[in-house]
Amino acid sequence: MALLSVNVDHIATIREARGIDEPDPVLVAGMAELAGAEGIICHLRRDRRHVKDRDLSLLRKTVKTKLNLEMAPVKELVDIALTIKPDVVTLVPERREELTTEGGLEVAGNKEEYKRVTGKLKEAGISVSFFIDPNPDQIKESLSAGADIIEINTREYSEARSESDISRQFEKVKEAAKLASKLKLRVCAGHGLNYVNIKRFSSIPEIEEYSIGHSIIARTVMVGIDQAVREMVKLVSQF
Ligand code: PXP
Repeated sequence: MALLSVNVDHIATIREARGIDEPDPVLVAGMAELAGAEGIICHLRRDRRHVKDRDLSLLRKTVKTKLNLEMAPVKELVDIALTIKPDVVTLVPERREELTTEGGLEVAGNKEEYKRVTGKLKEAGISVSFFIDPNPDQIKESLSAGADIIEINTREYSEARSESDISRQFEKVKEAAKLASKLKLRVCAGHGLNYVNIKRFSSIPEIEEYSIGHSIIARTVMVGIDQAVREMVKLVSQF
C-alpha cells in the first residue's frame, strides 16, 4: 500500500498573492493529515516566494505524521534544517527563475558536496532523499552519496502527450523504481501527478510514497468552490 504526502506550497502561494495571513499552509497541513495524508511537504526556497521560515517552524511543531523539507543543498538551508530537524530532507536543484523544480539533481557532478551535506543531515537524525530523474546513473550515484531515499522525478511522464511517449516515460520511471529498490534505496515519486495520470502506478509496487501538490490544491478549489460561494451568498442574502 503506497502512501501520500501532500505538498502545501500552493497554499502559501495563494496567501502571498495578497501578502496577508490566509490561507495558512499550517492549518491546511493539519486538515490534510486529518484526511489521511501520511506526510506534509514544503519547499523552503531561497527567495522565500511562498513558504516562509515561520511556516516551517510551525509545521515542525504541528505535523503529526512526517515533515519533509524540500530544499536546495546550500549552507543557509542546511543550517535551517539542522535547527528545525524535519523528519526528511529532500534535496532538489533550484533555479531562481523557475516556476517549479524543473529537473532532478545532477548527482555525479556534485557528489562530494552532496555527500557532505547528506552526512551532516543524517548525523542529526534526518533521513535524506534525493530528487532525481529516472536514470540508472543518478540512482547509483545517489546511493554512493549516502541517500536513504530517492524521489523519482515524474515530470517528463506527466508532461508526455502521445501514448507512445507516455508509455516510454512511464517505463523509465518503472525501471528506475525497480533498480533503486534492488539497491535497497527507499523509493518515492512525484511532480505533475494528478487524479488521472497516477492510475498507471498501481503496476509499480516499489514506489512507497507519492509527493503531490498542484493537482490536490487545484482539486481543493474545484470541490470547495460550491460550499464557499453558498456560504457567502447566504451571508449577503441576509442584508
Ligand atoms: N516533488 C518535488 C521535488 C517537487 O519540487 C514538487 C513540486 O513542488 C513536487 C514533488 C510536487 O509536484 P506537483 O506540485 O506537481 O504535484
